[in-house]
Amino acid sequence: MGVTILAIESSCDDTSAAVVKDGYILSNLIAGQDIHMSYGGVVPELASRAHQANIVPVADQALKKAGVRIDDIDAVAFTRGPGLLGSLLVGTSFAKGFALARNIPLIEVNHLHAHILAHFILERDRENRLPAFPFLCLLVSGGHTRIILLRSHFEMEILGNTIDDAAGEAFDKCGKLMDFPYPAGPIIDKLASEGNNKAFIFSKPSVKGLDFSFSGLKTSFLYFLRDRLKEDPDFIIKNKTDLCASLQETIISILMTKLIKASQLTGIKEIGIAGGVSANSGLRNYLSREGEKRGWNLFIPPLKYTTDNAAMIGITGYYKYLRGEFSNQDIVPQARF
Ligand code: KG4
Ligand code: ZN
Repeated sequence: MGVTILAIESSCDDTSAAVVKDGYILSNLIAGQDIHMSYGGVVPELASRAHQANIVPVADQALKKAGVRIDDIDAVAFTRGPGLLGSLLVGTSFAKGFALARNIPLIEVNHLHAHILAHFILERDRENRLPAFPFLCLLVSGGHTRIILLRSHFEMEILGNTIDDAAGEAFDKCGKLMDFPYPAGPIIDKLASEGNNKAFIFSKPSVKGLDFSFSGLKTSFLYFLRDRLKEDPDFIIKNKTDLCASLQETIISILMTKLIKASQLTGIKEIGIAGGVSANSGLRNYLSREGEKRGWNLFIPPLKYTTDNAAMIGITGYYKYLRGEFSNQDIVPQARF
């Protein structure tokens, strides 16, 4: 008969629902929230209100697109955290209500675990290459920057972590300084492809071991812009593409230096990237070049599984279902872990 799971993701500003059958994605719908663009970041209260408006239609569409009926669903998986509490509450309440009404198991999923297990998503119409263990994954999102060693789907060790801002925050905050709307990451990525990545040099942090730091880059970018704007008020407009290319190059180089070091220290060549920033084309190209040079077996997720999506919650929920890891109705969302 197989196992069919309805998965819900609502940790930040995307409302997503997916249907996963035996590890295969049958549907994965995402409703984004443009409302935050002009605020330079996600406004938590507006995000939870939009989730409330979107969650039922998105889940309904996910079921229809998958061609399954409500009583075909064997379990509901949902993001418990980390994320914005108000946003998580909407997805959690929906999942609990659905599970209670149908009398089926409820499965809590850690959002970060899900970003990584997105590498294990199966699709019907493509060749499914899955990582072998041990597997090194660089998780780069709006809230996290980590190098994680996976010994199995559930045994994970954090080898490196950011000591301040996340890589996605570096993109978004520096983009805000250039007056870009939120999220600035994809805009910088696009403009960078037309610029010279050696036009400007920004300082890189010296952090011990495999940890990262991005707050210094943001400050040096701020002072750099402030000084140049004094000389020429149109500096940003005139140098937009070169600024983006040089900034992106600096972020990628900080990330890649530590990933290469992690591979050398562990001897692991089974390597992947995950999270919103792993959509960055500069990072993907750099990684491919390095991977080829170093004989890495590389896993670069399809773009749709890099930023927040419920398919990754569904695949994680599927593996938890197989282990019988279910939650009770008294479960509550958790903003931080
Ligand atoms: O994983 P995600 O969707 O949400 C979190 O869990 O945080 O990641 C969102 C982050 C944002 O900071 C966004 O600017 C960044 O991913 N991002 C990118 C790109 N697409 C999304 N950063 C650089 N280049 C991109 N193409
Ligand atoms: Zn995420």
